[in-house]
Amino acid sequence: MKNRFALAVVSVIAFSAMTVFAQGPGADTYKTKCAMCHAADGSGATPAGKAMKTPSFSSPEVMKMSTAELVATTKNGKGRMPAYSGKLTGAQITDVVAYIHTLQKK
Ligand code: HEC
Repeated sequence: MKNRFALAVVSVIAFSAMTVFAQGPGADTYKTKCAMCHAADGSGATPAGKAMKTPSFSSPEVMKMSTAELVATTKNGKGRMPAYSGKLTGAQITDVVAYIHTLQKK
């Protein structure tokens, strides 16, 4: 009985770890720091996003930018896009840009 309970606990932990892995560590950063302008789906269709003319990550202009360019924009800012250098670590920026790629519709 006790062992069965332990097995259930281990399975739940393993499953949660897999879910976190599938979402990627960038998802949390994105939701807390970027989604208010860029929208949860990356379309930029939030009130703040529209007011600042935030482009969709799936727009042709953004689709043709390299990962390095997206990382540079996140670090240095651009137009009304705030700079995140010093606010996020290099690893957090790499992760959040990787997450942005998952939002881009090809
Ligand atoms: C205050 C609103 C706002 C927030 C918050 C914000 N952005 Fe932006 N972002 C913008 C705007 C506006 C642009 C378009 C800049 C331009 O082209 O002039 C932009 C552009 C970008 C681009 C480049 C695409 C392009 O059009 O050049 C990337 C990459 C990006 N943002 C990533 C992020 C990430 C990652 C975060 C969170 C860590 C974030 N943004 C948070 C408003 C925001």
